[in-house]
Amino acid sequence: MCGIVGYIGQKQATPFLIEGLTKLEYRGYDSAGIAVYDGENIRVEKSVGRLSALTDKIAQDEPKGSLGIGHTRWATHGRPSDLNAHPHSDCTGDFVVVHNGIIENYLPLKEELIANGHIFHSETDTEVVAHLLESLYDGDFEAAVRAVLSKVEGSYSLVFMSKKHPDMLICAKRENPLVVGLGDKENFIASDIPAIIGRTRRTYILGDGEIAIVRADGVTITNKKGEPIAKKVFTVNWNAEAAEKGGYEHFMLKEIHEQPKAVKDTMRERIKKDGSEIQLNELNWNTKFLSSFNKIYIVACGTAYHAGLVGKFYIEKLSRMLVEVDVASEFRYRNPIVDKNTLVIVVSQSGETSDTLAALKESKRLGAKTLALTNVVGSSIAREADYVLYTWAGPEIAVASTKAYTTQLILFFMLALYMAEIKNTLQPSRIKELITLLKRIPAQISETLTDVEPIKTFAKRYGFNEDVFYIGRSLDYDVALEGSLKLKEVSYIHAEAYSAGELKHGTLALIVEGVPVIALATQKSVYEKTLSNIKEVKARDAVVIGIAAEGDEELSKYVDHVMYVPETDELLIPLLTVVPLQLLAYYAAITRGCDVDKPRNLAKSVTVE
Ligand code: M6R
Repeated sequence: MCGIVGYIGQKQATPFLIEGLTKLEYRGYDSAGIAVYDGENIRVEKSVGRLSALTDKIAQDEPKGSLGIGHTRWATHGRPSDLNAHPHSDCTGDFVVVHNGIIENYLPLKEELIANGHIFHSETDTEVVAHLLESLYDGDFEAAVRAVLSKVEGSYSLVFMSKKHPDMLICAKRENPLVVGLGDKENFIASDIPAIIGRTRRTYILGDGEIAIVRADGVTITNKKGEPIAKKVFTVNWNAEAAEKGGYEHFMLKEIHEQPKAVKDTMRERIKKDGSEIQLNELNWNTKFLSSFNKIYIVACGTAYHAGLVGKFYIEKLSRMLVEVDVASEFRYRNPIVDKNTLVIVVSQSGETSDTLAALKESKRLGAKTLALTNVVGSSIAREADYVLYTWAGPEIAVASTKAYTTQLILFFMLALYMAEIKNTLQPSRIKELITLLKRIPAQISETLTDVEPIKTFAKRYGFNEDVFYIGRSLDYDVALEGSLKLKEVSYIHAEAYSAGELKHGTLALIVEGVPVIALATQKSVYEKTLSNIKEVKARDAVVIGIAAEGDEELSKYVDHVMYVPETDELLIPLLTVVPLQLLAYYAAITRGCDVDKPRNLAKSVTVE
């Protein structure tokens, strides 16, 4: 997730580019850059670090000109650096591009371009777009852009600028957002509305496959075939703050709704085209490597720890390796049995959590091999680990982690399948079947997000209870832990998750008339046992809200309400059941008037012990 902007008009471009990027910094902030055409040449200025590093750099000598593009980066291909920052140019400096997304086939394209004499300066996937443009250009800018788009695979929003055609900017999108803002003798481009609402409220929201030719005095939008389309002007009536949250009231809600896209991005480039294999090119492990380990530790904090519990289940079940999971703050003080035969997997959205980082360092000191699952490219944890798998969830702003959790689960699932492939612990047909189901998950998450009214009703009805219990067995229990953490941290309701089979060993004493119990019952292997536990709490007059897979006709007979999620393999269902629990926590917090995005006493990244 990066932020992109463009300006064409009568005024100076730089002030708008900087203003727009400031509003988009929430989309990425590891480096930034602008390119402005001064009437003769395109001047590119970029800098690693926050946008302020760029503004400091150009403060005494701002690029002048009324045509320009800009970018604030959230690194994917290539670490944060001056060279990897956008905009990227071709060999001649005549063409410049900014990009948000991932060009999946950039490597073969890059090899071909290098063979044809192109010289690359960055490690990014984006730079191929600029060189492709140079190689395909024969005097018609628009035709060259179309030719480029026919060659690139993956997701993108792109803005193209050429000094040979200073009367236009061209932009295009696929799977990533892009808007054109309509001004008076000037027009704007941005990946998101906040960047432009200081200048105009009249916009075109581009659709996938659409290409916009943006001139100072007009905008033409065409479809894939190049035919002009009549696009409706969308007038934005959000205020600036709502615009930053994509029209959602809070970042937490926005990020919950971003999950279908986020998990799709996690899978991107990691599944073989015919759906038969997981390919984790970042690892390149083999049988010898995996057989050198007699144990795996998963170490993390909070939500990442909960993802680790699911990860243990996946790895043990699919790749038959022994896994222990520990919270980072405990692990490092208990002299863990770790040596060169141990693989330590640390999980951290931010990549900066102090306890997790210390656990990672301690593991390395003890001789273990280390793998980090993280969301932030170039973070301390990413830099320290021997291997890194990125979740590609895009920046997570809300303190309550949501899309980081689901993307971590996806990554663990893929890792377990990848290890199963290497170790031969699963039939190829089963791997294929699971991959087919995995690919359906983004659409199924979208389905769970379509009707939130029943969840709002529960939140209103039970939002003022002081205690809520979450129960489940097997993977349902792991999700229950995450659901209860979400409720605690944003709504301040005392919430506890129990393994349903453990209730009778003590906690059942707390179940009295009217206490809400959220009961997850999706795991077929323990379904009957879970039903018995649900009957135990129902017999004590608890109010039970069940969570089940569609097609379950039993559960509704024993509980007060049921929330259904789409059917899938029981291994993958945590990716769906967690969504209503996130929403329940969110709406309970709203009911109680809590500050959802900044819960009391908490910080997004815990960089102190
Ligand atoms: O950045 P990390 O994933 O390392 O953060 C770990 C926890 O601090 C984090 O998951 C925390 O528990 C969240 N607030 C939960 O929503």
